[in-house]
Amino acid sequence: MPVTVVVGAQWGDEGKAKIIDLLSKEHSHVVRYQGGHNAGHTVVVGGERYALQLIPSGVLYDHVVPVIANGVVVDLPTLFDEIDALETRGHSCERLVVSSRAHLIFPWHQAHDAIAEAMRGDDKIGTTLKGIGPAYADKARRVGLRVGDVVDESTFAVNVRARAEAEDGELRAKGGERLDVDAIVDRFVELGRRVAPYVADTVSFLHEALERGEHLLLEGAQATFLDLDHGTYPYVTSSNPIAGGASVGTGIGPREIGRVVGITKAYTTRVGSGPFPTELLDDDGDRLVDVGKEFGTVTGRRRRAGWLDCVMLRHAVRLNSLSELALTKLDVLDGFDEIEVCTSYELEGVPVRGYPDRVDVLARVTPVYETVAGWSGPLGDVRAPDALPDGARHLLDLVQREVGVDVGVVGVGADRDDYFHWSAAT
Ligand code: GDP
Ligand code: IMO
Ligand code: MG
Repeated sequence: MPVTVVVGAQWGDEGKAKIIDLLSKEHSHVVRYQGGHNAGHTVVVGGERYALQLIPSGVLYDHVVPVIANGVVVDLPTLFDEIDALETRGHSCERLVVSSRAHLIFPWHQAHDAIAEAMRGDDKIGTTLKGIGPAYADKARRVGLRVGDVVDESTFAVNVRARAEAEDGELRAKGGERLDVDAIVDRFVELGRRVAPYVADTVSFLHEALERGEHLLLEGAQATFLDLDHGTYPYVTSSNPIAGGASVGTGIGPREIGRVVGITKAYTTRVGSGPFPTELLDDDGDRLVDVGKEFGTVTGRRRRAGWLDCVMLRHAVRLNSLSELALTKLDVLDGFDEIEVCTSYELEGVPVRGYPDRVDVLARVTPVYETVAGWSGPLGDVRAPDALPDGARHLLDLVQREVGVDVGVVGVGADRDDYFHWSAAT
């Protein structure tokens, strides 16, 4: 089948970009299908680190056409910062294609995001403050401006001004600062001029590639448990990262998708608020953060960390039709005496079936753990399964048994080449 989807199986930052970079070798197009510059996707090549927010993670290969599809919300200043930074480092973005149907983010979306978070006080979501939720809200209430609108410059200028004036009133009513409407109009007309050459009907563009027999890789941002419908609502993002979102966000029907790769760390992290049953608030948690360098790529925030949760992964298999898992950061567990893996939840002593549908229930479950013996030696140089210590083997076998799908690629370091294939799946 010509289309592969890569989706985060936890709460984000699983190492999706590293696996997408790896899979890019076999694909002609790498396509972002949702989210925006709330994503931070890191690829490390020979010690050189690339942190991508909007540009698809396949961009570092010359044969890949990077595509920002209709489901993405596009912040033009960030897009051009990224293009400029990549081009300065010798990676041309000339091939980039941006969907005319993708919605634009404007400064008022960021202002609304900040006000909404401040108003929630202790109940804040902990958003990235990039304006993602307000931009998707405008899309849903059908007042958003789209990338394709830039092509008719004079109408675009009129529409940006009308929206900016309306939003200025709303923001000030909520105690926000005044928008500099003239400056915003000038800036976005200029950015619109600059993005125009990249704009296309990506639905036709991608289907024409499929008709030529080319292979597409659809890149999820965020993750299954941040999904607006299926995540830990309201502590979620405002789009649908799950594999079904890849169809909506690209216009490629579900029957074209042959492979869905779920990415998980060997443990779990989460940024922002919301329940986290296997969270570790002790030295083991600090160790995962320190060794795993668990600080946000976009916001620099310290990520919360805990043990691997197979209840989540089983639910991710259901929600995404996962064909396989790729498991990253196994090396971060080097040197633990014992490693815990959550295999089920209990609520007041009673086993919980499936994944709780309410956050207040999820916040009260007790994880049931299976203990795996740790290993001492560093895994960083392992390039074949037979070089693995017993503890690491047991961990991978346990995950496959509990989750019910094969683990294909296993990551043992941040660099592009730091991986091996565990099962025959990949
Ligand atoms: P994404 O948002 O899912 O693409 O993940 P991020 O880039 O936000 O975070 C993953 C972090 O882990 C990045 O700093 C990666 O360079 C790093 N990383 C990815 N895979 C591995 C791995 O197998 N081992 C180690 N130690 N680091 C990894
Ligand atoms: P990648 O693609 C981890 C989290 C935020 C917050 C919630 C809502 O790098 O895995 P938003 O700004 O989207 O409205 O914030 O979602 N969040 C992420 N957490 N990785 C991400 O992206 C995230 N994108 C958003 O921290 O809890
Ligand atoms: Mg990330």
